[in-house]
Amino acid sequence: MLKRRVDYEPEAKVPETRLELIHNLIHHCDRCPLHRERIHAVPGTGPESAEIFMLGEGPGKNEDEEGKPFVGRAGKLLDELLASVEMTKQDIYITNIIKCRAPGNRDPLPEEQEACSRFLRMQLTTLEPLLVVTMGQFALSHFLPGEPIGKARGRLRNVGGQLVYPVIHPAAALRRGDFHEWAKEDFLRLPAILEQARSEPPAEENPKVRTPRKPPNDEDRQPTLI
Ligand code: URA
Repeated sequence: MLKRRVDYEPEAKVPETRLELIHNLIHHCDRCPLHRERIHAVPGTGPESAEIFMLGEGPGKNEDEEGKPFVGRAGKLLDELLASVEMTKQDIYITNIIKCRAPGNRDPLPEEQEACSRFLRMQLTTLEPLLVVTMGQFALSHFLPGEPIGKARGRLRNVGGQLVYPVIHPAAALRRGDFHEWAKEDFLRLPAILEQARSEPPAEENPKVRTPRKPPNDEDRQPTLI
């Protein structure tokens, strides 16, 4: 079947907020070859005021079709994991390391991650979330390169001033029973981690990669509304 590439939908309106403007930039992005195959770019969903910012790996087939993150099987499991702590996706801003589907859901290439990293920086500097929940190895590696998810999961970290809580990716939990148990543990700990983030966050670590809260140069500056 011939795919129909969509640049404007689902946000075919004049952007009114910084976040909408960033989403529009993502819908029009052609910085890497993934844009050629996409039906939709998948910028993210959730309120600009969200305290929690969840970061996955990249859109799959369902996400590509709908233009929204975590709407397939992994998304259904994410709903259940959030429900176990009385949260819903509506409370949270959710996005991915890469914003367009990689063919066959393969791992994102370094150059694809690099091409998308400016959007992630814009999203983080715009939302200034209290807590980033990284789901899986790729999202963890953005903040803590070289740390394996099996060791880093379930513990609050302070990476260059950004509080980060690494959890098992729901898609990994679908593949293996032991990962599913770990994912359940990680999410059951989320309310306590949120409380810790609010009241007694850990001291800043010596970060390997700094995700600046304020953009360091013109390229990364938040877009101004026009
Ligand atoms: N769906 C997403 O949007 N991201 C993932 O990482 C997996 C499924």
